[in-house]
Amino acid sequence: MKLFDVYPLYDVTPVSAKGIEVWDDKGQKYWDFYGGHAVISIGHTHPHYVKRIKDQLDKIAFYSNSIQNPIQEALAEKLGQLSSCEEYDLFMCNSGAEANENALKMASFHTGKSKVIAFNNSFHGRTSAAVAATDNPSINAPINKQQAVTFLPLNDFEAFEKAIASDAYCAVILEAIQGVGGLDEPTTEFYQFIAEKCKKHQVVLIADEVQSGYGRSGKFFAFQHHGIQPDIISIAKGMGNGFPVGGVLIHETFKPSYGLLGTTFGGNHLACAASLAVLEVLESEGLTKNADELGAYFREKAQDIPEIKNVKGRGLMIGLEFDFEVADLRKKLIYDQHIFTGSAKNKKLLRFLPALNITKEHVDLFFDALQNALK
Ligand SMILES: Cc1ncc(COP(=O)(O)O)c(C=O)c1O
Repeated sequence: MKLFDVYPLYDVTPVSAKGIEVWDDKGQKYWDFYGGHAVISIGHTHPHYVKRIKDQLDKIAFYSNSIQNPIQEALAEKLGQLSSCEEYDLFMCNSGAEANENALKMASFHTGKSKVIAFNNSFHGRTSAAVAATDNPSINAPINKQQAVTFLPLNDFEAFEKAIASDAYCAVILEAIQGVGGLDEPTTEFYQFIAEKCKKHQVVLIADEVQSGYGRSGKFFAFQHHGIQPDIISIAKGMGNGFPVGGVLIHETFKPSYGLLGTTFGGNHLACAASLAVLEVLESEGLTKNADELGAYFREKAQDIPEIKNVKGRGLMIGLEFDFEVADLRKKLIYDQHIFTGSAKNKKLLRFLPALNITKEHVDLFFDALQNALK
């Protein structure tokens, strides 16, 4: 059997990693400023993370959600504390798409309605309602198109007010910093306007924090830059530092009932141990603050490179915009400079999504390599 060929691959085979350093099968070292697409939050093979997962593996790795699982509760408690979201309940699943799928489902149960408002350039995942709410027709199969989604321009107050007034919607879903779409953001005024109108029309506000959450933006959640409170928050990527885990934080005003949501693997013992280890390291190493400070340092350094036309994003969720397409630059960075970076739907954007414990020396190293690649 061969693999179903859906990924265009770089010719690099990583076999080990530590912090932001990755080694391939030929012993070549790479610097990971991509974090496996914003997933590596505390660094590869962080010793606390490895120990916690190994210890858990020695005890019990999995049981279904039909038994008591105190580490799920410990995780919910720690997550509530660190994110300042203690008035939410946690439902665990396995990926970002699944988190959004459950968020949208909850919104529909709660309101009895089915239409969704999403935004141009959004990305919410590749499953049923999540992919329907993703602004990319090429990955939206006919079966997914049955879901009615209205796409609106970001920061267009008039279009939003007109749409939501129709009273047909169960949810508004948005990223506080668009990831795949290219780092565009709602303004604070617009996000607050959305929150106010959602309340007025009893539409559920879903903050997709799958990529921007877990300290990456310099606050635990990126919506926290805007002083609003969503009804549901979806999380994944940085949550497990590579262990497949996701979740939804559902405001306590939503009442659960047995069987309303469910999953076989979500919240298993190993996923909880990995997720707890991530939160413990985020806290003990002050990584949200580091993301904020290093993001500011990165922006400062970016000013010295005339080819960079614009710097987008917050904290360590950054996009560098050039006036040319960056595919070749990314290749040069990988093959000549041994630096991993990311791309976006905006082809002129180079993305920087490193682990949150990078240092100023790492940022300096990135800019030296970028300058070499631009020569
Ligand atoms: C904002 C956002 N939401 C959802 C997803 C989907 O997550 P997953 O690939 O884990 O299903 C992604 C993935 O890139 C994302 O960036």
